[in-house]
Amino acid sequence: MFSELKKNYIFIFQKTSNMVYGGYSYLDFRYTPSEEDFVVLMWVSGRCKLEKLAEAVASESSVGTWTEIKTMNEYVFEHYRARVFKIIKVRENAGFVYIAYPLEHFDVKNFNQFQASVLGNIFGMKELDELYILDIKFPRKFQKQFSGPKYGLWGVRKYVGTEKTGRPHVGTIVKPKVGLAPEEFAKVAYEAWINGLDLVKDDENLVDQSFCKWEERFNKVFDVMDKAEKETGEKKLYCVNITDSSINRMIERLEKVKERGHNCVMLDVYVLGITALEYMLELTKKYKIIVHAHRAGYAAWHRGNFGVNFQVLEKIYRMFGVDQLHIGTGVGKMEGGALLIKRFHEIAEKHSGEEKLYLGSLDFEFEKHIAPIMPVASGGLDPGKVDALIEIHGKNVTIQAGGGVHGHPDGTATGAEALRQAAEAIAEGIPVKEYATSHSELKKALEKWGYLEPSLIIARLEIERNSEILNEIVLREGITAMKNVVWKV
Ligand code: 3PG
Ligand code: 3PG
Ligand code: MG
Repeated sequence: MFSELKKNYIFIFQKTSNMVYGGYSYLDFRYTPSEEDFVVLMWVSGRCKLEKLAEAVASESSVGTWTEIKTMNEYVFEHYRARVFKIIKVRENAGFVYIAYPLEHFDVKNFNQFQASVLGNIFGMKELDELYILDIKFPRKFQKQFSGPKYGLWGVRKYVGTEKTGRPHVGTIVKPKVGLAPEEFAKVAYEAWINGLDLVKDDENLVDQSFCKWEERFNKVFDVMDKAEKETGEKKLYCVNITDSSINRMIERLEKVKERGHNCVMLDVYVLGITALEYMLELTKKYKIIVHAHRAGYAAWHRGNFGVNFQVLEKIYRMFGVDQLHIGTGVGKMEGGALLIKRFHEIAEKHSGEEKLYLGSLDFEFEKHIAPIMPVASGGLDPGKVDALIEIHGKNVTIQAGGGVHGHPDGTATGAEALRQAAEAIAEGIPVKEYATSHSELKKALEKWGYLEPSLIIARLEIERNSEILNEIVLREGITAMKNVVWKV
């Protein structure tokens, strides 16, 4: 019965899948993308030849549709269509596809319109089994429309006072994630700050629950932050989560933050969506408030067979102008191996980067005015992982630990001291393990969580020296090898 059904289905599918692209072809292998084109690299697989799939994607995401249309004309086709300019076949019906889109195809500074085109209908096309957008190169003329971060990496460093020492910033997420009352929360934050941490943040799922109302928590934490700054002589950051589905409620919170002269807020940028984010960033820039961006939810896009790699979102967030952004750790509890996270770090911190097919990365270059953002490494970290982490990120990073601070055998205060000691060790160029021999707080942390040898990470990163072999594997096995091997290394 089932095989009968299947036969029928295949028959019907073949009959209807003979798409006509308006009599025009979207393949143009002699085309070289211009400076003003968007270049999109994607992995595509499906139920007909790769060329056909690529044409379907290029058509549906630009000017075409499933059948010939009498309204199409040469001018529209020449000026606005997407061009498949390169295909790398891994199988007859699967491979890497490069598509160029002309700048004129898109609105000015309207990412939603871009998304509806290039990251829109195509995900629903039934002849596709997989469609994964690996990377997008944004033309510089498009980038000019965005202002980038107000503070970014160097602005935040300046604020905290670390631009000279260059040590990593250290911070904590108050744990339990939710549940503490404002008073209890503030107590934990205070202990963390006076024992050396630069930053305290709300968790991504804490905003305004009945047991910890936003305003009360904000005021209490602000008071102890002020106290901690006076006692330590250091500037502190409190990333208070103002994320809300109501813009009005977010604005109300932002106004309160501004009224008290506070410096920083947190936004769950992925769940907010770009419209709300853009709106909020206009206000935070006007009010001179640092924006800490948590990316909770990004992985729903990033990890599937139909999806978008995080490097695309990351570029968008930098162009729109968040100041600090969670980009993964490479050594902690969340997905992403050393190579991939190093790439994310480059996109946050560097001005440009080269193409690396084995990572699914195109080359990139940011416009000069789009300043670097502070990369945040968070999720499953503890002081014993700091040396290894630095191999991936270098010193320009904010290291955050929730469990790795509040889970210290002697509690938050000692846990905070231990994490700061790890950062001092990095600044002084002394291995954390060695530093621990003369710092009992750090020593205890390492006893509990162990020590991740940086040599393990160095060895992983060295795999990049064999980029030709990595490319060969990916060209032979496609995205499966990328996801299961390269991105996990
Ligand atoms: C957390 O909330 O536990 C993590 O920090 C989220 O992971 P990410 O920092 O890799 O986004
Ligand atoms: C975050 O929001 O970054 C985290 O909740 C990290 O928590 P963890 O250090 O306990 O994994
Ligand atoms: Mg969290």
